[in-house]
Amino acid sequence: MIFGRIKSVDAILATAERKSLHRTLGAFQLTLFGIGCVIGTGIFVLTAAGAQKAGPGLMLAFAIAGAICIVAALCYAEIASMMPVAGSAYTYTYSVMGELLAWTVGWALILEYAVAASAVAVGWSGYFTGTILNQFLGIHLPAALSSAPLALGGAPGGIINLPAVIISLLITWLLMIGTTESARVNAVLVLIKVTALTAFIVLTLPSDQFSTANFNPFLPAGLFGGFGSGVGAVGAAATIFFAYVGFDAVSTAAEETKNPQRNVPIGLIGSLLFCTVFYILVAAGAVGTIGGQPIMGPGGIPFPAGSEELARQCAMAEYSQMLVCSNEALAHVLRAIGFGTVGNLLGIAAFIALPSVILILLFGQTRIFFVMSRDGLLPDGLSKIHPKWKTPYIVTALTGGAVAFAAAFLPVGKLADIANAGTLYAFMMVAIAVMMLRKTEAARIRSFKTPMLWLVGPATILGCVFLFFNLPFEAMIVLPVWGAVGLVIYYLYGYRNSHMGRGIEEVNEASLSELEPKVPGTE
Ligand code: ALA
Repeated sequence: MIFGRIKSVDAILATAERKSLHRTLGAFQLTLFGIGCVIGTGIFVLTAAGAQKAGPGLMLAFAIAGAICIVAALCYAEIASMMPVAGSAYTYTYSVMGELLAWTVGWALILEYAVAASAVAVGWSGYFTGTILNQFLGIHLPAALSSAPLALGGAPGGIINLPAVIISLLITWLLMIGTTESARVNAVLVLIKVTALTAFIVLTLPSDQFSTANFNPFLPAGLFGGFGSGVGAVGAAATIFFAYVGFDAVSTAAEETKNPQRNVPIGLIGSLLFCTVFYILVAAGAVGTIGGQPIMGPGGIPFPAGSEELARQCAMAEYSQMLVCSNEALAHVLRAIGFGTVGNLLGIAAFIALPSVILILLFGQTRIFFVMSRDGLLPDGLSKIHPKWKTPYIVTALTGGAVAFAAAFLPVGKLADIANAGTLYAFMMVAIAVMMLRKTEAARIRSFKTPMLWLVGPATILGCVFLFFNLPFEAMIVLPVWGAVGLVIYYLYGYRNSHMGRGIEEVNEASLSELEPKVPGTE
């Protein structure tokens, strides 16, 4: 029963065949696309939360999270090369573990994409209020309008994060009217982000203020902070994992890739390796110059990132200039070491480039909803296409509204942790699916085979479970609660209406290729 209603790989591939004429992406473009999705709020903003959890061990946290993502990417690469189709982890799970588990994955992907979009919107808001409003226009937006409420982990006096709401709604509107982002725009944005991070590394690592003393103690909160504590180097890895989220979007572009069997693995692994190296160097530069020790609470345990207690400490003059207190971590470091202008330019880079990450995440979310509704697991009305814009406008509007709501009232760290919980579940299921497919579809050609799958697959599963249990308890608990809500909805709606369950194959399968825009940043 639990593994019932398996959608055959052939049925899934039949959908992809139809799109073979649109294949335009090569390995380089795909790698650029991956980097475009990945570099965002994680490195530009969450570096502060990561340091509050791990101190200088943040570097190790980036390495741990990067290593787990790389093994997960190797699994994605094999499965995406077999099934270059939309729907990502949801579709893969459908092909081996059946509808119920596929539904749970699709449901968890809402956390990955929609909640992550909220997190990036809040990260963007930090740079907008800090660099654009404050530094350039001299406008000090009060906390009441620029932060989540204190009780939810925002700043003292916070009520609503208005800039985050506005950017979320603006991007939703752009997606509704069919705006896409060309591959050229994506390439320019990647260049802007990479230039900003390169400038950061070049100015911090050789700086006079760089001191190895800043790395002592290296692990002020230990390697493991303990179950559900969310601190220590591994706790930080569980949060900073967010900085890598989005690489799997490369697999969603597989339908539009030339020779996907070769190019998708290169795009996935290339973009991740690139980001891992950059992130570790950025973390070294930040900690080495202005220090990255956490603010300790009672018992020598760091105050939880995104907590009311930490917000109160950070409001005190004594602590306000610390890395862990900044809403625009990287710009803050550069300003603090005397590169104010470059710091502001970096702030502008984040201001310009982060909205495209929101766009890609929101886009990914609407496409997953679209595929789920095409399968009959969500109401047909959701996948209704606007006659003029050719977009799934209803689902886009609903998703955007929810993203804006979450961005209004929750701080970036909490949103990122929740997004990570969902993502880790999806990655784990992909690793299980790829191993099962080696058995159930042993004869099917896969031009990319995960090397040492029987090591890499279990390593992915263990890595995901391990990071999950190192998330803060409140983020961890969201997954089962969210999953339970999802199951109720499945049994009330999807189970009865599923096209698979009713014996209907792909009733409106052609419509996905009719949609505008195509995957942003790829055309
Ligand atoms: N990895 C993306 C970011 O850090 C989601 O913004």
